Amino acid sequence: MKKKSVMDIIKKRRSVRSYLDKPVENEKIEKVIEAARLAPSACNSQCWRFIVVRDKEVLRQLVEKGLEKIPVKNKWARTAPVIIVACAELNFLTHRLGAKISAIDYYLLDMGCAIEHLILMATELGLGTCWIGWFKEKSIRKLLKIPKKTKIVALITLGYPEEELKEKDKKRLGLEEILFYDRY
Ligand SMILES: Cc1cc2nc3c(=O)[nH]c(=O)nc-3n(C[C@H](O)[C@H](O)[C@H](O)COP(=O)(O)O)c2cc1C
Repeated sequence: MKKKSVMDIIKKRRSVRSYLDKPVENEKIEKVIEAARLAPSACNSQCWRFIVVRDKEVLRQLVEKGLEKIPVKNKWARTAPVIIVACAELNFLTHRLGAKISAIDYYLLDMGCAIEHLILMATELGLGTCWIGWFKEKSIRKLLKIPKKTKIVALITLGYPEEELKEKDKKRLGLEEILFYDRY
């Protein structure tokens, strides 16, 4: 069988909001985190930390307290057998001082790179994911005992999709709307 290219995986990936009641194997979890570990980061600071939540009771509380008590209720997340809480451990020099000098929050870029690595790896392994950016940080911090200096950046659901991942047309801007040569 022909090996899938990065573009094949990118085209196959979509946000999955409905999962089978089937656990995700440990080696698959480790592979997706390994892909995140190899991401680039500003000054190679590697601020990412990942909490893999798969205990059913902790998952229930995570969704109830962290995802349902907000205006955008990510209720569908109840079906996910795994939720990865992506955190950033902020370093004074690279992250706080760097952001002051350059007005760019490098840690968010670093986290974005690592999370996308994780998501693409999951897609290659036949797993579905959905990036969740709407959550109640305070409640999740308390539930998972995350220290104050560690910022929660995103939650990613992970599991076997109810509907198999297939290449589908994506609603996106056209290349001519986003690509510029030599000047804006
Ligand atoms: C930073 C970020 C935050 C997001 N937050 C949510 C969210 O809270 N809930 C949700 O259902 N989807 C969320 N998404 C998924 C987007 O809605 C989705 O990626 C987009 O609509 C494109 O669809 P696709 O992922 O299927 O290609 C988020 C995606 C990103 C990158």
